Amino acid sequence: MVFVGWLRWCLVMSFTCLLLASCSINPIVEKSLRIGTDQTFPPFEFQGTGGELQGFSVDLIKAIATAAKFQVEFQSLPFDGIIPALQAQTIDAAISSITITEERAKTISFSRPYFKAGLAIATRTDNTEIKNFASLKNKKIAVQIGTTGAQTARNIPGAEVISFDSAPLALQELANGNVDAVINDEPVTLYAINTGNLQGIKVIQKLLTEEFYGIATAKNSSYLSLINQGLSKVLNNGKYQQIYQKWFNATPPILPETT
Ligand code: ARG
Repeated sequence: MVFVGWLRWCLVMSFTCLLLASCSINPIVEKSLRIGTDQTFPPFEFQGTGGELQGFSVDLIKAIATAAKFQVEFQSLPFDGIIPALQAQTIDAAISSITITEERAKTISFSRPYFKAGLAIATRTDNTEIKNFASLKNKKIAVQIGTTGAQTARNIPGAEVISFDSAPLALQELANGNVDAVINDEPVTLYAINTGNLQGIKVIQKLLTEEFYGIATAKNSSYLSLINQGLSKVLNNGKYQQIYQKWFNATPPILPETT
């Protein structure tokens, strides 16, 4: 009888110890953030052959989440649906190579810049007419809807701008010879060319603009400081450089703290 009582006491105590130990390892349940992304923008955010989400931004937001102690729940959205989703708060934040612009900053908030990019003009390799921005006048230009590339194309006199749901679709239209040029983020166009995904295309004017990507949230969201804290950590602890090296095979440029 005494022995059974003692055994029971032992069992209860070890269970309690286990419970306490697991609590101290994981003292608080991490908050889960719904992160919106348009998954058609390699090498930043795109689906692998098995449909798995991957890319520079995907690795980056995961590293930020680890550093700032939150969980990531990805939500796939069309690019032009991201700002409305942030405003409606059906997502908590978005990482989608979103250029920080004054116009956008009126309706949403941005983290500190996490990538330096810019727009580039692409044309077919056999095109000798398009040499620079000025020669795009009266030309047929393909763009992704809702992007800074689309905005830039709209300001070209006489240009016929054709919008696509994704950058790869716009670039494919150029490869097919149906448009004269594409205005798109340079790293994405170069990646499409360098991976051999698109044939017969060249970049003629490198970095038409200088743009910085930021992680977007609803205007003045309470998540902004959490994301910025995580991003700053990742920028300083070597993780950012590691991810940059993995996707771009280069050392990253120094980023400004604000734009
Ligand atoms: N940087 C450009 C912009 O903000 C294009 C971004 C497109 N991103 C994407 N995931 N499709 O307008």
